[in-house]
Amino acid sequence: MIISEDIDIIRNHIKSWKTHGEKIGFIPTMGNLHKGHISLISSLKQAGATKIVTSIFVNPTQFGINEDYAKYPRTLDSDEKKLSEHNVDLLFSPSTDIMYPKNPLSRLIIEYPEYSNILCGENRPTHFSGVLWVVNKLFNIINPDIAIFGQKDYQQYILIKNMVKDLFMPITIACSPIIRESDGLALSSRNQYLSKQERLIAPKLYESLKEAKISIDRKLKISDIENNGISFLRRNNFLVEYFSIRRSNDLKKFDNNQPFSRSIIILAAVKIGRTRLIDNILLT
Ligand code: PAJ
Repeated sequence: MIISEDIDIIRNHIKSWKTHGEKIGFIPTMGNLHKGHISLISSLKQAGATKIVTSIFVNPTQFGINEDYAKYPRTLDSDEKKLSEHNVDLLFSPSTDIMYPKNPLSRLIIEYPEYSNILCGENRPTHFSGVLWVVNKLFNIINPDIAIFGQKDYQQYILIKNMVKDLFMPITIACSPIIRESDGLALSSRNQYLSKQERLIAPKLYESLKEAKISIDRKLKISDIENNGISFLRRNNFLVEYFSIRRSNDLKKFDNNQPFSRSIIILAAVKIGRTRLIDNILLT
């Protein structure tokens, strides 16, 4: 596996691969890799990529002032080992100075008020503009044919898909399913912040989503299903940021009086103690 933080070196490798007809697949990450991240490699190959490029960069601009940027787990050595074992071709792991050479605070903002300010954006108002900015930079460096994102961060996936379309970027954006622990908890680097007690109740988040799916199949009223989800989570000591049933193509709300179409997503974000967890279920 080629490992470099030098943009010119990265570009030269990718250029030469492209000349030889390779299809460049890209997986951007913030590292501390788990099986969820690793699953993106095979999804990307299935989507047609012949060279797998990953990046590891804990992006400061997507963390709010009181969020966990400083304590976000950084485990580059073991991450490199995992990627190399899974036959990744190239790892770009830049420093903050390389990604933000001028000043970490200089900022190009791509606004999507209808997507950035809802759901996760309500409690994390600057988060998605930081994500779009760094993904834009990464796309310009890597120049991939396909890039893949996890369904776990569904709102992020929708925003990136929109950005790529609006900026006429010649990149296919793919989405890969959520990988879970055996008790249903979605894998996340933030799970390790949970205390033993908190870890025991954390799977209730997925339970609440599964329960909502059953209620949707029974055609219960959307607002009732959402309220039931919120009550269930509160009874289990979660602080609920949102529990929402949306259209999966554009994250818009359903009108209560409208019959359900398909293409539904049930999304939730909660806090257990100081740890923030998100999860969702797609109904296609
Ligand atoms: P990070 O949280 O490291 O996630 C990298 C990718 O792994 C994302 O596409 C995310 O959705 C996916 N992922 C995380 N947990 C997963 C799970 N349990 N199952 C399947 N996929 C999972 O998302 C980011 O980094 C950043 O915002 C980034 C896009 C890299 C920009 O900084």
